[in-house]
Amino acid sequence: MASEIQTLITFFGATGDLAKRMLYPAVFNLYKKGYLQKHFAVVGTARQDITTDEFREMVRHSIDADGKQDSAQVNDFLKHFSYCASDVTEASGYHDLRATIDAAEKEFDIPGNRIFYMSVAPRFFGTIAQYLKSEDLLAKQGFNRLMIEKPFGTSYETAEALQNELEAAFNDDQLYRIDHFLGKEMVLNIAPIRFGNPVLAAAWNKDFIKNVQVTLAETLGVEERAGYYDTAGALLDMIQNHAMQIVGWLAMETPKSFKDQDIRDAKNAAFSSLKIYDEAEVNRYFVRGQYGAGQSPDQKAYTQEPDVPADSKNNTYIAGELQFNMPRWEGVPFYVRSGKRMAKKTTRVDVVFKAGTLPLGAAQEPQETVLTIVVSPDEKIQMTLNAKDVSDTYSTHLIDLDWEPTAAEKAATPAPYERMIHDAMDGNGSNFADWHGVATAWKFTDAISKVYAENKAPLETYPSGSMGPKAADELLARNGDHWVFQG
Ligand code: BG6
Repeated sequence: MASEIQTLITFFGATGDLAKRMLYPAVFNLYKKGYLQKHFAVVGTARQDITTDEFREMVRHSIDADGKQDSAQVNDFLKHFSYCASDVTEASGYHDLRATIDAAEKEFDIPGNRIFYMSVAPRFFGTIAQYLKSEDLLAKQGFNRLMIEKPFGTSYETAEALQNELEAAFNDDQLYRIDHFLGKEMVLNIAPIRFGNPVLAAAWNKDFIKNVQVTLAETLGVEERAGYYDTAGALLDMIQNHAMQIVGWLAMETPKSFKDQDIRDAKNAAFSSLKIYDEAEVNRYFVRGQYGAGQSPDQKAYTQEPDVPADSKNNTYIAGELQFNMPRWEGVPFYVRSGKRMAKKTTRVDVVFKAGTLPLGAAQEPQETVLTIVVSPDEKIQMTLNAKDVSDTYSTHLIDLDWEPTAAEKAATPAPYERMIHDAMDGNGSNFADWHGVATAWKFTDAISKVYAENKAPLETYPSGSMGPKAADELLARNGDHWVFQG
């Protein structure tokens, strides 16, 4: 049994979809593992006027819809939950909430240690943070931490304004900005693979690596989220945050230690060296696309989707080449791509190693080899090697070394939200983006957004169910590269 971390978690947006699908199951897992035992409480708040009993039933449904959990354990768990309706835009909305939090803290004898989780529309983030302070909801002893859902701003300017609002009430080290990709097991595996194998650590540079590829492909379309997605597009929805954070692990120098701030500092140093593109470079190094209709009738063109303006120029696909001005990466392109309605759902990293030049005097010379980390929906690590072909020459062919976690390992893997709530309780910010990292990512994508907003780049169309526009293949072909994952 893990040791208990005594905490009181307040969920804003407690009746919302994310809370029901992800957050309560995550908290329940932490309870089952013993990170939460006797001295914890959960306070839910939202506009909806429901009682604590109704709230507990809602949570019961979210953690045990099929009734397969141990019901005594579920009942004990739910005793720690209370609810208070509130309007987060009014100071008075926080007074009952404060009383509910104080009462829960007393009942379960919790020594301060408050986490406030904002699972609400981003326009409320700053307001809530400020009222938490002004209306006296912060613990007087122990810690106060704020967990913030994405998106963190919509540009550098809006992100900075939000940061200033948050900093009026919290220090940056109390802010836990969520990027759920950083909580995925296989993303967490990048560092052990890269730094835990001297042979890879030694080869992790321009002398051995030809290019690095990060693919975040989805088969889903815009669904019912046009209101948000049509203003964000793949660039802000996936590249600015998730893809860049994964690239951070791949591009950074070896951190001074594997403690949270050292990891973040190493990533930030890499982000700071990113080349920010001018208009011509955006056109040269980035491709934007929008899905057209696919072969099946339910694969509508993006502009035919509900609530999408018929003349929308939104990008549902982005591919780009990132360049780091670091001696380690001189001349090595980092390719990223992400799109909706692609042929296959996959999140993966492909590190392409240079081909050997050893003249073995054979018909087939050694080829480029690839280290692949498949993050989801499968989890896999693969590496190709040149090995001797079955012939009487020294011809080589590529062989695959593959690893997949067992079913038991998969079942034991914490879901990203469980890991992130645990890390916030534990004060471990390693897998959260800090302000410096977020700011540099915005500066990089703002330069691209500007070109797109002024419509100074072509908008390619790709059929739903394909791997994106041809221009994205040409982007790599120009450097003698190709996408490793072809769908
Ligand atoms: C979210 C995006 O952050 O990530 C969604 O807003 C996207 O558009 C989702 O579908 C993908 O996450 P996952 O974990 O399903 O790959």
